[in-house]
Amino acid sequence: MTLASFLDAGALAGAHALARYRSEFPIFRDAIYLNTCSLGALGERTRRRSAEFFDLWQTRGASAWYDVWWDALAELRTRYARVVGASPAEIALAPSVSVALSAVGEAIDYRRRPKVVVTALDFPTVAYQWLAKRPRGVELVVVESPDGISVPPEAIAAAVDDRTALVATSHVYFTSGAIQDIKSVAEVARRCGALTLVDAYQSVGQVPVDVKAAGVDFLTAGGLKWLLGGPGIVLLYVRAELAPQLAPAIVGWFGHRNQFAFDPRVLELHDDARRFELGTPSLAAVYAQLGGLDYIDEIGIPAIRRVTAALTEDLIARARDLGLRPKVASRAEDRSAIVMLPAPDPAAGVRHLAAAKIIADARPGHVRLSPFFYNVQDDHVSALERLGTPPGH
Ligand SMILES: Cc1ncc(COP(=O)(O)O)c(C=O)c1O
Repeated sequence: MTLASFLDAGALAGAHALARYRSEFPIFRDAIYLNTCSLGALGERTRRRSAEFFDLWQTRGASAWYDVWWDALAELRTRYARVVGASPAEIALAPSVSVALSAVGEAIDYRRRPKVVVTALDFPTVAYQWLAKRPRGVELVVVESPDGISVPPEAIAAAVDDRTALVATSHVYFTSGAIQDIKSVAEVARRCGALTLVDAYQSVGQVPVDVKAAGVDFLTAGGLKWLLGGPGIVLLYVRAELAPQLAPAIVGWFGHRNQFAFDPRVLELHDDARRFELGTPSLAAVYAQLGGLDYIDEIGIPAIRRVTAALTEDLIARARDLGLRPKVASRAEDRSAIVMLPAPDPAAGVRHLAAAKIIADARPGHVRLSPFFYNVQDDHVSALERLGTPPGH
């Protein structure tokens, strides 16, 4: 997407086109929600699909498994695949990013290539996965960020070599909102014979993602934030050619190709990404995610990106007008809808906002605001005004 196409001057004209969805998110009736990067707001369609699951459970019990619920899992794999440009067979379902990372981490052979490269800005659950394997000889290399906003591609290139098994890093950094060029990361890794895993939890839903164009081997993202599906459900993309070559050392019966043979003597995993699935998925979470995707699919991520990019620029400009210095990427096209506002006591700032029913969150040194398509410019005005009001008022 070019800069001109997403910084469309008309994207916020009047109440922007996507503001019509706001009435479907009841939290806005008495609050201002600016925290999608922690948890997407609950929409009516999501609630309705969740209720559908509970109705089925109540009326049909386990008999819903083999027709409707089994189909719901397949529907979710297919829709997740579409959102990231993969095929359904390249998608495994998992309950959290940490579990998805564990499945990948336990499928890699570290004997010849003991090194895993991450960056200092990645969500730490990524690094923890490989720190935990240090006693087994895995070497974790953390590439530093000079500015706390992004990591120079040259620094990543310098860290990757022929002893590297995997480069595991973010698409959008949770702590600065900067978008990393994952295609160039994948190229660097490939040149050295290493694999690439992308934690796209902060990007899929708000920024277009195409796993094929990026050339990554694994990618994970999920419902919690920008896909509006709540906690407990994530996707793991595994490149089709790669999946059958990998034998995860943590497994479960959902990964078994003959799941209902119930034979404890034979472990034959699916040939596709499902070999990375473990146990029974949380169906409540699956249904909530299908409801969240009803919004994302109907609007389309390019349209979401146009509006959220314009909102992001609006928030940054207003903050700068007030003398604040948001910690964001220097080029607009490298920014996503996460805006870090420096604050001496971020937790107090978040409490001060909450007292005025403005929901944001804190990260070290910053109040973090994250507008999405259901926000409007007035939300920014209210939040910034409140932040400028002394506590106690
Ligand atoms: C980029 C990123 N990755 C991973 C996580 C955590 O993932 P999980 O709790 O599903 O393991 C978060 C935050 O919730 C995040 O922002």
